[in-house]
Amino acid sequence: MSVHVQDNPENRAEQHAVKRIKQSVASFKRKKEKGEKIVTLTCYDYSTARILDDAGMDLLLVGDSLAMTVLGHPNTLSVTMDEMLHHVKAVSRGAHYAMVVADMPFMSYQADHMEAIRNAGRFIQEGGAQAVKLEGASDRMVDVVRHLVEIGIPVMGHLGFTPQSVNTLGGFKVQGKTLEAAKKLIGDALRLQEAGVFALVLEMVPVEVASLITRRLRIPTIGIGAGNVCDGQILVVDDLLGRYSDLSPRFVRRYMSSSTLIKEAVNAYAADIESGNFPNNDTEAFTFPDELMPELAAQFEKIFQQFDRK
Ligand code: KIV
Repeated sequence: MSVHVQDNPENRAEQHAVKRIKQSVASFKRKKEKGEKIVTLTCYDYSTARILDDAGMDLLLVGDSLAMTVLGHPNTLSVTMDEMLHHVKAVSRGAHYAMVVADMPFMSYQADHMEAIRNAGRFIQEGGAQAVKLEGASDRMVDVVRHLVEIGIPVMGHLGFTPQSVNTLGGFKVQGKTLEAAKKLIGDALRLQEAGVFALVLEMVPVEVASLITRRLRIPTIGIGAGNVCDGQILVVDDLLGRYSDLSPRFVRRYMSSSTLIKEAVNAYAADIESGNFPNNDTEAFTFPDELMPELAAQFEKIFQQFDRK
């Protein structure tokens, strides 16, 4: 497995100090207008959110991919609204600057518009997210987007390979590869923009199609497996860090192998325990006052004898 590391690992947030304001729908619109790339990642927990926020990420998506990376399911279909909410709350507590987007899980928005509104509302009201994401552009989905935007909930769209339709799409496959499919994608993107989405994820779409869509839309596109032509990029954080290996799509670039680093650290910990080297009683433990030790030993002795008599 190859690991890609930058030559200059300086903190991105320091390089772009001017960016340290809470990111919003308006800031993403400005970035698109200025041609500035939008840098985003998925995130599922508080401590990672702190690190990613500190590193200057523009947006953190609490993706339903957590079903796979955090919960060990084979696809995203099994994660529930309550499980997602649990993680959205944690990420929101750690993200002071990045916009937090909550991914609407399968069956939280498809069955009924009112249920979709209530569930999206929970992510904002209880979860502390600033926006939600949902997949697809069927008439029903476009209508759900309209309802959410109408009540003030920003929505991110998601087209191309939409993981919640994995069973219909017949697996993890590139979308928009035929003339017909590409035309449909472009039409869907325009319909979603019209319905009010503030940004659009394009997943596993040919570069040329992603480029046409990106140039035509007023809203930013965020690519994953759609080439470098989109207005921004997203990756699953566990893929970037090299700690999830059940799937290895072509579009993932690993910037470190944290599974190797974690195993090295855990092996060193085990070796230290086995050799008695951890913990150090002087620096990593708590001591009892020396002058009270004789009395403590005597008291212990008495207690032991009482137990022995029973
Ligand atoms: O759930 C997720 O992680 C996603 C991204 C891949 C866009 O939807």
